[in-house]
Amino acid sequence: MSGLEFTKEAAKQLEKTYLTRDVVAQRVETIRQLNLSRGESVLDIGCGPGYLCESMGEIVGRHGAVVGIDVSTDLIALCNQRKASAWLSYAVGDATKVNQADASFDVVVCTQVAE
Ligand SMILES: C[S@@+](CC[C@H](N)C(=O)[O-])C[C@H]1O[C@@H](n2cnc3c(N)ncnc32)[C@H](O)[C@@H]1O
Repeated sequence: MSGLEFTKEAAKQLEKTYLTRDVVAQRVETIRQLNLSRGESVLDIGCGPGYLCESMGEIVGRHGAVVGIDVSTDLIALCNQRKASAWLSYAVGDATKVNQADASFDVVVCTQVAE
């Protein structure tokens, strides 16, 4: 593990920060560059509060899949609280030991994690 720990309070604060205009604009640009299509499957490594996963889930739709992983148990809990679609899933996971099968995603995204 990276040693990064979020208390429930810090996770809630991060969730709020990720709704500010600048951060929303960053996500819009990321989505534009990914150029996703319906039915694609996407892995988001270090998904944080899960907003990018939610936006990508709307694009790929029910025939696609979005999996978000993050080292923070508290952030993954927040993601799961808001999770609105069956094709969106979250798990605690470490970017340095990704345990997904090889070639099981069309797209892998990792934003603002290697800082
Ligand atoms: C600045 S946030 C970015 C969140 C999201 N990717 C975004 O751009 O909205 C960094 C995230 O990376 C996660 N993280 C840091 N090291 C990680 C690791 N080794 N494996 C998985 N997640 C990690 C943190 O828990 C945090 O949620």
